[in-house]
Amino acid sequence: MSKKNFALVIGGTGMLEGVCHWLTGEGYEVCVIHRNHKKFELMQEKSNYPHQLHSITVDYHDNEKLQLAIQEAKRKHGCYPDLIISWIHNSAPNALPTVLREVQYRNEPWKLIHVQGSSSFFVKENTTVPKMCEYRRVYLGFVLDDQHSRWLTHDEIAGGIIKVIKRDYKETVIGTLRPWSKRPS
Ligand SMILES: NC(=O)c1ccc[n+]([C@@H]2O[C@H](COP(=O)([O-])OP(=O)(O)OC[C@H]3O[C@@H](n4cnc5c(N)ncnc54)[C@H](OP(=O)(O)O)[C@@H]3O)[C@@H](O)[C@H]2O)c1
Repeated sequence: MSKKNFALVIGGTGMLEGVCHWLTGEGYEVCVIHRNHKKFELMQEKSNYPHQLHSITVDYHDNEKLQLAIQEAKRKHGCYPDLIISWIHNSAPNALPTVLREVQYRNEPWKLIHVQGSSSFFVKENTTVPKMCEYRRVYLGFVLDDQHSRWLTHDEIAGGIIKVIKRDYKETVIGTLRPWSKRPS
């Protein structure tokens, strides 16, 4: 039996839900980090491949519990993830480094899709990643039509991230970030 690809999606029950569904259709086993289990169950009900969606209920502000949860996921799947998609609020700056410490010993190439909010674009933080990690950065922008602007919909965000995975873009803005003065309030 061939080994199934394994993805970890941090914040996967929100705007990344569509990405999780797409990944299961592509044959991935998908571990989803979230806090609200009911939201995860609703997501599983919508899925064509519910058995490929796996819940990790943990608050990513709690580094110790997050570390244990990643170790447990690795034990269950018998391998490190091939793909991590990370959408983590700025209130948890230690969460991604905690996850990355747990996958640093993977000795085959793997991908990190680091999703960041609009304001991060102007900070350009330097993310340190393990040796075998292929780093991909995605900034969430906004949509500007004539004189009106609005934030991206979940479908636009999920579609943009799926495109990044398929085309392997290194750094992408979904929507636009310019002119910044025209961003939605
Ligand atoms: N353009 C931009 O710059 C930008 C930036 C940010 C957001 N947005 C928009 O704003 C909307 C709201 O963003 P959002 O991040 O609140 O929504 P979201 O993506 O819909 O939900 C956040 C995801 O992260 C999980 N999560 C949140 N806090 C967590 C924690 N402490 N520990 C573990 N998991 C956690 C949530 O699960 P639980 O609910 O179960 O915890 C959920 O899966 C988005 O849908 C997007 O359209 C736009």
